[in-house]
Amino acid sequence: MVTVYPDHLSLVDGAAAFIAGLAAESIAARGCFTIALSGGSTPRPIYARLAAADHAAHIDWGKVHVFFSDERCVPPDDAASNYRMAREALLDHVPLPPGNVHRVRGEEDPALAALAYAQDLQGVFRTSVIPTFDLICLGMGDDGHTASLFPGTAALREHESWVVAQYVAVARAWRVTLTATLINAARHILFLAEGAGKSETLWRVLAGPYQPDVLPAQLIQPISGEVHWLVDAAAAARIQSA
Ligand code: 6PG
Repeated sequence: MVTVYPDHLSLVDGAAAFIAGLAAESIAARGCFTIALSGGSTPRPIYARLAAADHAAHIDWGKVHVFFSDERCVPPDDAASNYRMAREALLDHVPLPPGNVHRVRGEEDPALAALAYAQDLQGVFRTSVIPTFDLICLGMGDDGHTASLFPGTAALREHESWVVAQYVAVARAWRVTLTATLINAARHILFLAEGAGKSETLWRVLAGPYQPDVLPAQLIQPISGEVHWLVDAAAAARIQSA
């Protein structure tokens, strides 16, 4: 399902309302809300909008567990840290118990950080089978990557692990990422894409031939959950002209 918003502000409002609505629904149904936040630049204003009183006051933050869809292998106060971005935009502004924020320890050895993250997931979901997130947030790069699942990388072929670490040549950096296997077990997956720079890629991902090694966002096909694309008109231009 693709929802197109006319501009930046309506996308920000719509996405924040979407997340807040799912939080309330999940807490009412299961007593908790498990969410994985995406990084990059697109979600920052959406997280800030979610922290605004008209949304935040209606979420029982004590019942929310926050994870990350991926992380750059940097310390938590680094400008490139997805955790830092989310903390500044949202986490510092809502009454989330510190124990409910599960960040990737980007400052540690990547492989060990990935292992520790999988253990965190097991601890919170109290399961040894694949956990079912209520919501996993994702972005999409101009190259079709999502989370830190980049074209042609080994993580795309990972079918057992929930979390992997890999060196991403195009980013010249180590990344820790949830795998497509774990993402596809979620109840809801929210893709956020904004701007003309995403238009061609969005069309290729949604309407083009299936080539996940080239367009990893195509790997995201939930087993029984739903995918929601919330995009602005500029990003939707190509699919709307098709
Ligand atoms: C990251 C992200 C990544 C991001 C896309 C889109 O850590 O960078 O998780 O997958 O979502 O690169 O980024 P923008 O929103 O900045 O376009």
